[in-house]
Amino acid sequence: MISGEHQVSDLVGRVVDAFRDQVGRDPDGVWAAPGRVNLIGEHTDYNDGFVLPAAIDRLVLVAAGRRDGGRLRLWSLQAGPPADLELAAVGPGRVEGWAAYPAGVAWALGQAGAQLGGADLVVDGDVPAGSGLSSSAALECATAIALADLHGARLDRQALAGLARRAENEVVGVPSGAMDQMVSMLGRAGHALFLDTRSLETEQVPLPLEESGLCLVVIDTRAGHRLVDGAYADRKAACEAAAAVLGVPALRDATLEQVEAAAEALGDPGLRRARHVVTENARVLEAVALLRAGHLDRLGPLLAASHASLRDDYEVSSPELDTAVEAAVDAGAAGARMTGAGFGGSAIALVRADLAGRVADRAREAFAAAGFGPPEVTTVLPSDGARRLA
Ligand code: GLA
Repeated sequence: MISGEHQVSDLVGRVVDAFRDQVGRDPDGVWAAPGRVNLIGEHTDYNDGFVLPAAIDRLVLVAAGRRDGGRLRLWSLQAGPPADLELAAVGPGRVEGWAAYPAGVAWALGQAGAQLGGADLVVDGDVPAGSGLSSSAALECATAIALADLHGARLDRQALAGLARRAENEVVGVPSGAMDQMVSMLGRAGHALFLDTRSLETEQVPLPLEESGLCLVVIDTRAGHRLVDGAYADRKAACEAAAAVLGVPALRDATLEQVEAAAEALGDPGLRRARHVVTENARVLEAVALLRAGHLDRLGPLLAASHASLRDDYEVSSPELDTAVEAAVDAGAAGARMTGAGFGGSAIALVRADLAGRVADRAREAFAAAGFGPPEVTTVLPSDGARRLA
C-alpha cells in the first residue's frame, strides 16, 4: 500500500486548535508552503546552474497571530520545544535548534527593511523532516509569507524566497543554493519549475503525470540526512576550487571538453565533481526539452544517468538510496534517482500508475533483504507553492 496525503482541511483544523491551546485565541491566519522533489539538476544550484524541481502536496503550515511588543513565540507540533525570543536579539549564531529557521526568516525580513512586530507562530505539517523533501525550506517559506502578510510587508515571492534562503545560509548556517525556497514559493500544480539559478529566471514546465498514465513515487529511505554536517559544504568548496582551476566564474560556465582537458590539474576527486555538475546541467536542459515536447515518458534514461553520476562522480548517494533506485527500476519504473542533497533522504521514481504498488513492494523487500529499516513509500503530486489557507 502507498500511503496518501493528509487532507489539507484536517491539517488546518489541527494547527488552529493547537494555536488556540497555546495562545488562548484564534490565529489571524494560516499560511502554508510545500516541500519539493527535484526531478533533475542535483548539486547544480550552488554552481549557478539549472534545476527542475516540483513543489509537492506535502505542506508545512504556520498559524500566526500578531502580538504587542517585540517577542516572537514559536511552537511546533513536530520539530522540538517551544521558543520565546526577543526579535531584536535574533541574528546569525544567536538561535539554536529548529527555532533558527522561523526566527532566521524574521531576522532576514528585518534586514530587508520590513517593520515586524511581535508574533505567535504555531507550526504543523506533513513534510517529513530529514527526508530530503525540503521540510526546512517549507518551514522558512511558510514563515516568510505568514510574517510578511501579518505585518503588511510588500515583498514579492521571489524576494521572499531569497530571504528564506538567507535565513538558512546565515542564521541556520547551511550554505544551500536557491532551489528549495524558489520552488516552495513559486511551484505550480501540474508543473515542474525550470530555474536558472544564475539569473533566477523561471519557466513553469507542464508535468502531465495523470494524462501520461504515470506517477511520481517517493521512497524515503528513513536514513536521515543532515545538511549541517560537513559533506554538503565540502562538495560546494570542491566545485569552487574546480571552477578556479578552470578559470571560470562558476562550473555553470564550463564545458565537458574543458573539464576533461584539465583532468590532471583538477585531480581526483576534483575531475569527477566537476564532471557531475557539467553533465547534470546538460541533463536538465535535455529534460526540459523533452517535457516541452510532451515526452514525459522519455525522462527515464536521464534520471538513471543523473543517479549514476551522483553515486559515482559526486559520491552523495548511500547504500539505501542505491537500493531504492535499483528496486524501483527492477519493478518496472521508467526511471529513478536520489533527490535532494543525498547522504540519505529520498529517491524518486517515475512509474506507470499501475506499477506503483509493485515498486513500493519491491523497495520494501529489497530493504528487508539488505538489513535496512523499512522505507516509507508514497506518491506525490506537483502542487502549488506557498499560500494563505485561512
Ligand atoms: C539541498 C539544498 C539545495 C540543493 C540540493 C542539492 O536540497 O538545499 O540548495 O543544493 O541540496 O541539489
